[in-house]
Amino acid sequence: MRIAVVGGTGTLGRQVAEELGRRGHEVRALSRGAREFPIDLRTGEGLPEALEGCDAVVDASNASSATRAAETLVEGSKRLLTAERTAGVRHHVCVSIVGCDQAGLAYYRVKTEQERVVEQEPVPWTIVRATQFHELVDALFTTAARWRVIPVPRVPLQTVRSAEAARAVADIAEGTALRERVQVAGPEITELPELARSWRSITGRRVLLLPLPLPGRLGRALRRGALTAEQPDTHGSTTFGTWLAAAHGRSRK
Ligand SMILES: NC(=O)c1ccc[n+]([C@@H]2O[C@H](COP(=O)([O-])OP(=O)(O)OC[C@H]3O[C@@H](n4cnc5c(N)ncnc54)[C@H](OP(=O)(O)O)[C@@H]3O)[C@@H](O)[C@H]2O)c1
Repeated sequence: MRIAVVGGTGTLGRQVAEELGRRGHEVRALSRGAREFPIDLRTGEGLPEALEGCDAVVDASNASSATRAAETLVEGSKRLLTAERTAGVRHHVCVSIVGCDQAGLAYYRVKTEQERVVEQEPVPWTIVRATQFHELVDALFTTAARWRVIPVPRVPLQTVRSAEAARAVADIAEGTALRERVQVAGPEITELPELARSWRSITGRRVLLLPLPLPGRLGRALRRGALTAEQPDTHGSTTFGTWLAAAHGRSRK
């Protein structure tokens, strides 16, 4: 199959592209900085050429702030899907987040809106909802540790190794459109303070873990486990601790 991976240079997209390539597909990595297929979801530039002859499209694009995310993920999905219709793409795979419709954070509202756009378009689709990647939690702790304090609300997470999420996304992209959401999640549900304690012990960083109350509806939803999936369609097998120990072992060499 010829498969385009939008955001094919990002954390997840790069691994989806590599995985599909290993399975023998002709893969096109699309992003603003991509060498062969530069595209911009915020303008639609490059999309018609990049999607020519593609059977499936994986959308693993992302944007940092909620405002940028709305332009890139919601308006960008509309542009992408219009170009896919013209190109005759038969399967659009949208990467989303477990519980995005339950956790009322600005970015998650954008992801929910992106899902709505995908579900309403005529291009056959599958939405793959993943839990937070180990890499994201590591990066957040690393950033907070610059101030020697990591705020840790008691929120249960089920972080997954991005490589395992990428394999699940590749499996879906190879198949026919399901017109439904599937979930991929990590092997264990762990509260954020516990993840932070593992991070501190494995990295050896001297940081204070600061309990943070999360009031209101958002707090209740997160504490209830809005971001976890007890029975996901695909379970990763690598725990945060195992992944982190290996990642930090590598970075010390
Ligand atoms: N990170 C997590 O923990 C996590 C968990 C669950 C689900 N997800 C979902 O997984 C997806 C990928 O996340 P990620 O963390 O892998 O993202 P990422 O590492 O930030 O990568 C984002 C990708 O999008 C591209 N991009 C950004 N703006 C673009 C634009 N205007 N036009 C075209 N391409 C653009 C970037 O390349 P250029 O800069 O070169 O354009 C890059 O390839 C997102 O939908 C996210 O919501 C992430």
